[in-house]
Amino acid sequence: MGFMQIQDLKVHYPIRSGFWNNVTDHVYAVDGINLEIEEGKTYGLVGESGSGKSTVGKSIIGLEKITSGKVFYEGEDVTNKARKRTSGYNRNVQMIFQDSMSSLNPRKRVIDIISEPLDNFERLSPDETIRRVNELLDIVGMPEDALYKYAHEFSGGQRQRIGVARAVATNPKLIIADEPVSALDLSVQAQVLNFMKRIQEEYNVSYLFISHDLGVVKHMCDNLAIMYRGRFVEYGNKKDIYNNPQHIYTKRLLSAIPSIDPVNRLAHKERRLEVEREYTMNQEKYYDEKGRVYDLNPLSESHYVALRPEDAKGGN
Ligand SMILES: Nc1ncnc2c1ncn2[C@@H]1O[C@H](COP(=O)(O)OP(=O)(O)OP(=O)(O)O)[C@@H](O)[C@H]1O
Ligand SMILES: [Mg+2]
Repeated sequence: MGFMQIQDLKVHYPIRSGFWNNVTDHVYAVDGINLEIEEGKTYGLVGESGSGKSTVGKSIIGLEKITSGKVFYEGEDVTNKARKRTSGYNRNVQMIFQDSMSSLNPRKRVIDIISEPLDNFERLSPDETIRRVNELLDIVGMPEDALYKYAHEFSGGQRQRIGVARAVATNPKLIIADEPVSALDLSVQAQVLNFMKRIQEEYNVSYLFISHDLGVVKHMCDNLAIMYRGRFVEYGNKKDIYNNPQHIYTKRLLSAIPSIDPVNRLAHKERRLEVEREYTMNQEKYYDEKGRVYDLNPLSESHYVALRPEDAKGGN
C-alpha cells in the first residue's frame, strides 16, 4: 500500500462569458484520475500541452482547488485542506517548477531560497542553517560560494539544481517535479536528472515526474501514466508502456521520440506514419462520441488501458 492515494480527482475551471460574466461552461482540466504513490518510486505523468499535467500536480499540493475527488496522505484526508505552512503534509510534499526564473525569487540569495522551507519546521541557528544549506548545495553539485549569490546570477541548469536543493531541504516523501528539465539543453538535462536519481537513492523520496516527452522520463520512471484531455489513457510500469503500449495515444507519443540511429531512421518514419494513420482512422475505438477517453480497464496486474468496453473485454 502506498503512502498517498489520489481518488477520482477532478479539477474543472469555470469559463465565464457574456455581458454578465456568467459561468457558461467548464474546462475539464482534470477529469477523474486515480493514482497510488509508494515510497521511493518515480511516477511519470506524460501528455501533450494542455492535457492537465500541471493541474494534477498543483491540486495535489494545494495550489489549485479540487472540484471533486479525494487526496489521502498516510490515511489522512488532505483534499483542499487549507495548507498550514507548518503542517506535516506541507513538509512532506514539495514541488519543483518548470520555470525556475519565475518560481525562485530573483531578489533573494541562495541561502534564503533554500533555507526558507526549513525555517517553517526547524529552529536552526544561523551557523546550523549555513551548514545545512551547504550540504544541500553539495548534494546538487553546486559550489559553496553560491550561498550568498542571487538566483538571477545563475544559469538555467544551476537554478534548476537550486530548486531541487530547496525541494529536498525538508526531507520530503514526495517531490512533484513539473517539467524540471524541459527548459535545459540535453547535456544539462542529463546532469539534473542524475542528481535527482542520486537524491532518490539516498533519501528514498518518491517523484511525480511531469513531462511531455516519453524519451526524457524513460530512465527515471518505475510507473507511467499517459494523460490526454484530463484523463489517463494508459497506466503501467516501464515495460508495459515502452514495450507493450496499447492505446493509440501512447503509441503516438512513443513514435514522437526522435530516432538517433541513422539506419533505423527510415523505418522509424514509416512507423510514425502508420501510427498517425491509425490515429485518424480508428478514433471511435479510443474515444467515445464526445471525444472523451474511456475508463481504464486492467490488462494485467500492472497495466491498464482506456479502450472501448467491447474491445477491452476481448483482450487486445
Ligand atoms: N487557472 C485556469 N483557468 C482556466 N483554465 C485553466 C487554468 N489553468 C489551466 N487551465 C486549462 O486547463 C487545461 C490543463 O492545463 P495544464 O496547465 O494542467 O496543462 P499541462 O498538461 O500542464 O500543459 P503544458 O504541457 O503546456 O504545461 C488547459 O486547457 C488549460 O488551458
Ligand atoms: Mg504544465
